[in-house]
Amino acid sequence: MKPERDPVTGRLTTGHEWNGLTELDTPVPKPVYFFLIVFLLFCVGYWLLMPAWPLGTTYTKGLLHQDERASVTARVKAAAEQRASWTSMIEVDHAATVLEDAALMARVRETGRTLFADNCAMCHGMEARGGPGFPSLVSGTPLWGATTDALFQTIMVGINSDHPDSRTSQMPAFGRDGILDATQIDAVVAYVRSLSQPIAPTDRIAKGRELFAANCAACHGEGGNGNSEIGVPDLTDTRWIYGGDSASIRQSIWRGRQGHMPSWDGRLQLWQRRVLALYLVDLRRHAP
Ligand code: HEC
Ligand code: HEC
Repeated sequence: MKPERDPVTGRLTTGHEWNGLTELDTPVPKPVYFFLIVFLLFCVGYWLLMPAWPLGTTYTKGLLHQDERASVTARVKAAAEQRASWTSMIEVDHAATVLEDAALMARVRETGRTLFADNCAMCHGMEARGGPGFPSLVSGTPLWGATTDALFQTIMVGINSDHPDSRTSQMPAFGRDGILDATQIDAVVAYVRSLSQPIAPTDRIAKGRELFAANCAACHGEGGNGNSEIGVPDLTDTRWIYGGDSASIRQSIWRGRQGHMPSWDGRLQLWQRRVLALYLVDLRRHAP
């Protein structure tokens, strides 16, 4: 069929016809060509200036030599250098000196809070107050001491961790391992409860006291005050790792307990571990 003029639009048709439908010969609008050309020019320019085409093991580097990795590395290095002005003091200065230095402590609080949130809060809680199975780091008698050095050591090697120098501690399973029978455990539970709350003395508690002296005092101390040399908790305060109700205490004695605190040696840098130790000392000092 020959091209002819469409009576409605007045345009020429292409001459094609399908089932009585004819196709108008409408050219692509000029602006489309314009944008195509601009776009193509932009692409060619970009390919020449910026890293663009993969070439097997390498790629075209571009005339501007733009390298995101290099600029990130440079920025990280600059940040580390800037930080070193105070982190080097944290690394070498005596803890007591740092704790007295208001400007340094402001940095410790800010950085310590972030480090704690990123690495420790999932177990110890945002405010370091602990939760079931995880001790509070700001209140109660500390397991392993609350000096900067003791905290630094715990953070470095962990507790029952896979670090060769890990601190180790374990509460034996008196019930499961058949060291004490159920009645004896009931008595000792009653005695342990009486250590932290005013309960009228009973025969059972007296029996529990004897059993405690024979089985528990070696680790927990005569009065149940714990021993921070070997990471044994105080049973006379109202802070509990695993719970102070009869059922939880019974569970601790029946099944034993062994908390795991990871080692941060190698996972956090020296200055970061020192900041965390100082941060915790400071938190405890200001804890209500
Ligand atoms: C996977 C959970 C977990 C993470 C993460 C964790 N901890 Fe612990 N942490 C524990 C447990 C469990 C204990 C108690 C171990 C025990 O019962 O003997 C503990 C104990 C401690 C102690 C000793 C407390 C005392 O009273 O002496 C300190 C200090 C401590 N953690 C600091 C930290 C810091 C700082 C971080 C972050 C860098 C951290 N922990 C991350 C589980 C964790
Ligand atoms: C070999 C030392 C050792 C002996 C003996 C021992 N304990 Fe423990 N006990 C521990 C340690 C260590 C923990 C802390 C375990 C942990 O945090 O993972 C603990 C934890 C506990 C807890 C849990 C405290 C809390 O805060 O939740 C109770 C309760 C307890 N012991 C009672 C006893 C009683 C009662 C006896 C004697 C029948 C006893 N222990 C004997 C080492 C000992």
